[in-house]
Amino acid sequence: MKVLGLSGSLRQGSHNSRLLESASRVLPGDAELEIFDGIRDLPHYDEDIDDIGSPDPAVARLREAIAGADALLFVTPEYNGSIPGALKNAIDWASRPAGKGAVRNKPAVAISASPGQYGGVWAQADLRRVLSIAGARVVDEEFAVSRAHEIREQHDDVLAPDQEGPLAEILEMMIEDARVNAAAANAPLAA
Ligand SMILES: Cc1cc2nc3c(=O)[nH]c(=O)nc-3n(C[C@H](O)[C@H](O)[C@H](O)COP(=O)(O)O)c2cc1C
Repeated sequence: MKVLGLSGSLRQGSHNSRLLESASRVLPGDAELEIFDGIRDLPHYDEDIDDIGSPDPAVARLREAIAGADALLFVTPEYNGSIPGALKNAIDWASRPAGKGAVRNKPAVAISASPGQYGGVWAQADLRRVLSIAGARVVDEEFAVSRAHEIREQHDDVLAPDQEGPLAEILEMMIEDARVNAAAANAPLAA
């Protein structure tokens, strides 16, 4: 099981990117995390460019990475109550062509971290909604790390030991869906 991890933060030292790295240690045994690092290279979504049919190399790389994954783990900062534009842009690219975008039917989880007291719950709720509309099979569970800077100071990590279990449960739901998805794709066609 290949899980592609995407962080909506572009900054060095990001709490969310650190949470993504830490999530790899609570993935089920048969799942491996690969982190996609090309979000900053994507051009702004432009339907004219997309319609030409030979996408920018950064777009092709994103689409191939998502298409080759069994499941998607998104971590998002909250910017003004929603997801960062860079992440929305990446999802827009991955959602096209309509009905056949790379994210379609991919099991996905959306989690967040923030120094604030709510942990970015608005952003992750928006992220789940956007991913669902784009066609992903989104696990409808919330996982937010609030006061991320304090957790990080205390544990030298954004994922505290007592949060490993709750995150593992959500990731297991995604992997279970990916197993069902893979089994359905490999089932012999009815005569
Ligand atoms: C443009 C901008 C808007 C922000 N808006 C929010 C917000 O609505 N809610 C929140 O909890 N934090 C907000 N923050 C603070 C971020 O949660 C904080 O910068 C966080 O560290 C970003 O995630 P990262 O560490 O993964 O880069 C905002 C930060 C920026 C730069």
